Amino acid sequence: MIDAGGLYERYKELQSYVGWTEEDARRVAATATLLEPYLYALIEDFYAEIERHPNARKVITGGAEQIARLKGTLTQWIRDLLSGAYDTTYVTRRWKVGLRHVEIGLEQVYTNVALSRLRTGLVQSLHESWRGAGRDLKETVRSLDKLLDLDLAIIEDAYQAEYAARLQRTERLATLGQVAGGVAHELRNPLNVVKTSVYYLVNARNPTDDKKTEHLRRIERNVELADGVITALSNFARLPLPEMRPIDLESMMREVLELNPPGDRIEVVLNSPPGLPGGLGDASQLRIALGNLVRNARDAMTQGGRLEISLRSEADRVVIEVADSGTGMDEAELVRIMEPLYTTKTRGLGLGLAITRSIIDKNQGTIQVESQSGRGSTFTVRLFAAPVEGDQ
Ligand code: HEM
Repeated sequence: MIDAGGLYERYKELQSYVGWTEEDARRVAATATLLEPYLYALIEDFYAEIERHPNARKVITGGAEQIARLKGTLTQWIRDLLSGAYDTTYVTRRWKVGLRHVEIGLEQVYTNVALSRLRTGLVQSLHESWRGAGRDLKETVRSLDKLLDLDLAIIEDAYQAEYAARLQRTERLATLGQVAGGVAHELRNPLNVVKTSVYYLVNARNPTDDKKTEHLRRIERNVELADGVITALSNFARLPLPEMRPIDLESMMREVLELNPPGDRIEVVLNSPPGLPGGLGDASQLRIALGNLVRNARDAMTQGGRLEISLRSEADRVVIEVADSGTGMDEAELVRIMEPLYTTKTRGLGLGLAITRSIIDKNQGTIQVESQSGRGSTFTVRLFAAPVEGDQ
């Protein structure tokens, strides 16, 4: 819904842009009685033109009743235009024209050309009815022009806002569909494994202890997998505001590596220069963000490789570089890599890097990635350095 106060402020700003003054309002108001006898013909012409254009005509689906209403509405619209009072109610009504048009499916171009036609008609009628000096007529036409331009600006604004809101709704629905599909897919696999193992444990005759343990372990692993999917989703869905505190980056990175072990085939190097200042951020969130980077690096090095994590300070920032010697990415992948639901892996929701980026953003940091296909990738995270004690 629109905020009438904000809309009015916007209108006033646009008025000042076109140089609208009280004098303009007075001049326009003086035309109301002159133009009144022409309104009927102007509206008839307006509607006749709609009739000639199938793309405009097709939005009138309510028959004679709607046509009568439309003509009445338009007559009122012109009377309001010439009323001289351009208050919040006036502007809100103008805005609603755009909204209503989007609702009925009238393309914006038809509003524009219809307004152009109406403008010509109004000016012509003014010429015919004018009894005063030619110079005053010129001034009056200029005022009317400004007013019509302002009306069109507000109507167009409403069109744009409504289109943008609709697009957002559509995109949200599409994303929701994708997420639902991804979650269903990711949960179905582990649940199927659990189901099969439970079936075995319930029905097997005299299973050996080893077999029982094997199935229980499988259940445990797959419940963890399913739990991981849900954790990733809830991390993404509601990321609380970070609690910004000084963080010892080296020990945080050690914890991250412990929580996300890269595996035996990957050589891990952690470079941390002495005297490195602390970072500023929410440690529990950053552990998730950096854990995703470590896991991604691991997944890019299925054949083994080297994971090098380098910490350094840079002006008022601290930098965390996570470099792997894995498969790397080409240009096209690089562009999309942090989009939610984008993944190059056969498994996974594609939320890891999107979560990482969102966490880093909220922690007032930045993240960049460089990569070469076949050579590996480097993710660079920059956070604010924690203020040194006594420095504040
Ligand atoms: C100068 C350009 C135009 C202006 C100023 C204008 C003005 C308006 C206004 C004030 C409304 C009522 C909005 C509300 O419900 O609050 C409206 C509705 C509507 N307009 Fe326009 N309009 C213009 C062009 C057009 C054109 C070219 C068409 C082509 C078919 C059109 C079709 C309609 C229709 C079908 C409705 C809905 C009427 C109803 O069911 O109540 N308009 N318009």
